[in-house]
Amino acid sequence: MALLDIDKLSAFYGKAQALQDVSLSIAEGDIVALIGTNGAGKSTLLDSIMGQVTVSGDIRLKGESLVGKPTSKIVAAGVGYAPERANLFAHMSVRNNLLVGAYTARDNIADNLSRVENLFPVLAERAGQETSTQSGGERQMVSIGRALMTNPSILLVDEPTIGLAPKVFNDIAEALRRLNAETGLTILITEQNVNFALTLARHIHVMETGRIRVSGTADELREDAALAEAYFGH
Ligand SMILES: Nc1ncnc2c1ncn2[C@@H]1O[C@H](COP(=O)(O)OP(=O)(O)OP(=O)(O)O)[C@@H](O)[C@H]1O
Ligand SMILES: [Mg+2]
Repeated sequence: MALLDIDKLSAFYGKAQALQDVSLSIAEGDIVALIGTNGAGKSTLLDSIMGQVTVSGDIRLKGESLVGKPTSKIVAAGVGYAPERANLFAHMSVRNNLLVGAYTARDNIADNLSRVENLFPVLAERAGQETSTQSGGERQMVSIGRALMTNPSILLVDEPTIGLAPKVFNDIAEALRRLNAETGLTILITEQNVNFALTLARHIHVMETGRIRVSGTADELREDAALAEAYFGH
């Protein structure tokens, strides 16, 4: 059984349909990327998993349907979410931003905090700093760290490299790779940056106008130059 099964998922904003019959499975321990250009439906897919969009079809975590559950229950079931342009509290400290992430997991705050700070030592070093004064890469780590404060079994990260300088892409990729290798955490990211997705993910789904057009391993898609050219012009 896959960790996460998405089955014929369609998503709607009022009458507008943003996802059409999307099906995919994510195995435990995998790193998966959804790639696609603006408006392809990447964020909608993550928001659908989080119970924030009207959907038809099914989304199952360890065989249990998440559809119709409130977001708090979905988080408690084991889904961590680092949304795009994470709404960090700019004038709160790094530490307090992390603690906000623990609001549904009050039992193990100390354990979760030390796990997150071990993983991203910079967050411990800068615990008292306001996030507004951090670099983009550090803020991305706070955002991911905050999502980890509930000790999820799958981590969703929407466009981890967006707005960051290319020189910190590697730091983010390394952090996510280490998280996966050291804890076995399953990771689902979205990306417009194909190269970033290819270096990080093992499985890739290419989305276009609310559908999955192509799926394969990173190795398969790396070979597929025509595909990269068709979707991304390079
Ligand atoms: N809140 C909303 N209300 C109405 N339509 C929306 C809403 N959010 C997204 N859409 C539409 O749904 C479609 C998919 O958008 P989505 O944000 O999921 O794409 P995306 O792949 O995440 O794009 P980007 O790379 O720009 O973040 C688009 O046509 C978009 O206009
Ligand atoms: Mg998006």
